[in-house]
Amino acid sequence: SPSSLLVEKRILITAGPTREAIDPVRYISNHSSGKMGIALADKAAARGAQVTLVLGPTNLRPSHPSVRVIPVISALEMYEASEEAHPTCDVAVFTAAVADYRPAKPSVEKIKKKETNLSVSLVKNPDIARTLGEKKTSKQIHVGFALETDEGSGSAEHKLVSKNFDFIVLNSLIDPEAGFQKDTNQVTFFSTTEKSEKTPVLKKEELASIILDKVEMLLGAKPKV
Ligand code: C5P
Repeated sequence: SPSSLLVEKRILITAGPTREAIDPVRYISNHSSGKMGIALADKAAARGAQVTLVLGPTNLRPSHPSVRVIPVISALEMYEASEEAHPTCDVAVFTAAVADYRPAKPSVEKIKKKETNLSVSLVKNPDIARTLGEKKTSKQIHVGFALETDEGSGSAEHKLVSKNFDFIVLNSLIDPEAGFQKDTNQVTFFSTTEKSEKTPVLKKEELASIILDKVEMLLGAKPKV
């Protein structure tokens, strides 16, 4: 709506998986579809925000024409594109499922099959949300996601603090309706001051709207300039 506090606000959204090359034909990745971040990008653009979507490899694209998509493959590329967009953003939402590790030295040639086992040594990728969280100003709002295979509220609260998020959205893979590739999600919100009840099962578009309502409340509460 034209009265949205998001009008003209710059939003950075990371979304999708990353791919970490082992050799020219193989990679390490995960099951992220990018659906949650793409839904957020479309809903934020519909509220008048200027959206930059740093999107890992997925065939899905936002439908709103004003969303600026920066396609990336690896975590390092996602990090670089996000770091560039971050200083001028008002809001950053980290939905991407960034690979925690990458092969230390991707082979230039296709690795040949041998009779023996193969070990690939992995090094840590940068934590995009944590690094940009250290640079966050008092005017910027950061939103994170946590996906846990147990009820995991302790680790969501830890990530909220360690990554300097304003709030974090926890989804548990125990919930049959939540998580990767699905069109629905069931979540709990944590801020340093509040923990919400678990939401009912929501379409990712509905969840995107709820997240943006929370962001607008925070924008309304932040001091102007
Ligand atoms: O630590 P964990 O990966 O569970 O944290 C999830 C949150 O941190 C998500 O918001 C995710 O997008 C972000 N993240 C990131 N860069 C990484 C790992 C996670 O931005 N390398």
